[in-house]
Amino acid sequence: MAKNSVSLSVIRRLPRYHRFLKELLATGTVRISSKDLARKMRLSASQIRQDLNCFGGFGQQGYGYNVEALYQEISHILGLDQQRTAILLGAGNLGKAISQHMDFSSRGFTLVGVFDNNPALIGQQVGELTILDSKEIDVFCKAHGPSVAILCIPKDAAIEVADKLIGLGIRGFWNFSHYDLLLDHQGIVVENVHLGDSLSTLCCRLNRLEED
Ligand code: NAI
Repeated sequence: MAKNSVSLSVIRRLPRYHRFLKELLATGTVRISSKDLARKMRLSASQIRQDLNCFGGFGQQGYGYNVEALYQEISHILGLDQQRTAILLGAGNLGKAISQHMDFSSRGFTLVGVFDNNPALIGQQVGELTILDSKEIDVFCKAHGPSVAILCIPKDAAIEVADKLIGLGIRGFWNFSHYDLLLDHQGIVVENVHLGDSLSTLCCRLNRLEED
């Protein structure tokens, strides 16, 4: 199957496969059947086979999956063996937390620059990086060529900067601003993240449980 014909829902399940396989590796598991993997992940065995078949299978009838091989394959599909460079905009509460606590390198990224437009923050240290003035973004992008921008800025600012960043070579947005970036540009991908949506989903599920 062509790589770009793989559905987004399959792609969204891959990090979870990766996480479970990593845990299996840590416990010394050498192989696992799709049935056992399905039980652990609370998916169906046929779902697992279907998902992994999108990328060429990896399993063997009667053997199951070699955990290490599957883990490596999924790491490769996720692009974890590459190191893309990312910049972060908005070094407020969220931006600082993400800059300092996110394990970028294990996910195939290196955070190379953190920017803000608040003079009180410019020059402060976040982890190993110094917060830079967002006016320097143009020059910085030309020099370092980051491909991803992490947006931890307010909604209005996100709308304003997205096009500019595309012009500077940004191809992927990890967007935390409370605005769904729906960029209509070819070759640009966006992941809009709303922690609040997850909390609302929890609330809704609790309500339904209590109603039963
Ligand atoms: P904050 O106010 O602490 O930080 C925002 C930072 O963005 C400030 O330091 C500000 O100076 C900077 N900024 C504003 N415009 C800018 C621009 N054009 N260029 C560079 N920097 C700029 O806010 P906080 O708590 O860090 O949240 C950041 C954003 O993320 C907010 O819009 C908030 O609503 C949103 N948020 C989203 C969550 C999610 O799950 N998606 C969760 C929590 C917050």
